[in-house]
Amino acid sequence: MKILVTGGLGYIGSHAVVELLNENYDVVVIDDLSNSSRDIVDKIKEITGKDIVFYENDVRDEAVLEEIFTKHKIDAVMHFAGYKAVGESVQKPILYYENNLGSTLSLCKKMLEHECYKFIFSSSATVYGDPERLPLTEDCRVGGTTNPYGTSKLMIERILSDIHIANPKFTPVILRYFNPIGAHKTGLIGEKPNGIPNNLMPYIVRVASGELEILSIFGNDYDTKDGTGVRDYIHVVDLAKGHLSALKKAMNDEGIFYYNLGTGTGYSVLEMVQNFEKVNGVKVPYKMVDRRPGDIASCYSDASKAYEELGWKAELGLEDMMRDSYNFILKQNEK
Ligand code: WQD
Repeated sequence: MKILVTGGLGYIGSHAVVELLNENYDVVVIDDLSNSSRDIVDKIKEITGKDIVFYENDVRDEAVLEEIFTKHKIDAVMHFAGYKAVGESVQKPILYYENNLGSTLSLCKKMLEHECYKFIFSSSATVYGDPERLPLTEDCRVGGTTNPYGTSKLMIERILSDIHIANPKFTPVILRYFNPIGAHKTGLIGEKPNGIPNNLMPYIVRVASGELEILSIFGNDYDTKDGTGVRDYIHVVDLAKGHLSALKKAMNDEGIFYYNLGTGTGYSVLEMVQNFEKVNGVKVPYKMVDRRPGDIASCYSDASKAYEELGWKAELGLEDMMRDSYNFILKQNEK
C-alpha cells in the first residue's frame, strides 16, 4: 500500500514515515521544508534502509497534488503539514489560517477527485481549550482555543466532519496529540525547532547542552501538585505508531473517528526538569518567572478509547523520553 505523507520530513511526520517504512508501506512525501530539511530523507534511509518519493512543494499547490495522485495510486493520506508555533500564530493569524486551512482544503479536494478516502489528521489536544474535566476524553467539550494555531486545528476538524457528511466514504481519523517529545533512539531524527524553542523539552535539552543559559519556568502558582504546569508528554515514536494503528482502522472502516494520543499521565514542569537531570546526569538551571499568557494549569488525556478501538497505547516511559531527547541534541552537536 502507498501512503502520501504531507509534512513527512518534519518532527512528527518523519517519525511516522520511519514506522510506515518499517511496516513495508510505500511512502510519498510532500514537504515545503519550511520547518524541516532535505537531509531528513537521507536520515530516514539510514534508519530504515528504504527510499521514499519526495516532492519539495507546498501542499496548497494543486498542480503538484494532481501530479502525485496521477502518478501514484495513493491508498491513504497522513496530513502533518502545517504551521504549529503558538506564539507565532498570534502574531501572524492570516499566515496560519491560509496555510493550515488552505493546505487541508486543497488536499481533500484532490483526494475526492481521485477517490482516495482515507485521511489521518494531525490534530491537537489544544482543541479542548481550558479542559472541561480531567482526564480529557474525546467527548469533552471542544472550543475556547486561545490562539490561531489551536483554532485552525479546531476549524479543520469541523471541515473534515462536513466533508464526511457530504461524502460518507471519506473517512477522517482525527488524532488529538498531547505533548509530543523525544526522538528516534538512533538520534538521527528529532525535534529541531527554528530559533529559540517555544516548547519545554527542546528548551531543556538546549540548557543541558550549554547552548542556552537557563530555563524560565512559566509560573509556579498554578493549582497543581507543585504549582508548575502539568502536561501529558508522549514519546514521538509512540505517537508515530499511533498513526499506523489509525491507518489500519481507516482502511477497515468508513466513518469519522477521534482519538486522544497521550499516555494518560500528567507531569509538572518541575518533575520534567528533575527527571531529565536524573536520567541524563546533567544539571538544568532554572528560574521561576511569570505565567505565559494563554497557558492552562493542567492537561492530560484518557487514552483508553485508542486502546479499545485501535489496540494502541503508549509503551515508552518518561525515562525513554528524557534519554532520547538528550541523545538527539548531543548527536546534532557532534556534527
Ligand atoms: C509545556 C509546559 C509551559 C516552555 C503547546 C501547544 C500544543 C503543542 C505542544 C504543537 C507548560 C511550560 C514551556 C518554557 C516552561 N503544539 N514551559 N518554560 O504549551 O502544553 O503545548 O505545544 O504541536 O498544541 O499548545 O507545550 O512545551 O510549550 O509547555 O515553563 O520555556 O511547560 O508553561 O506548562 P504546551 P509547551
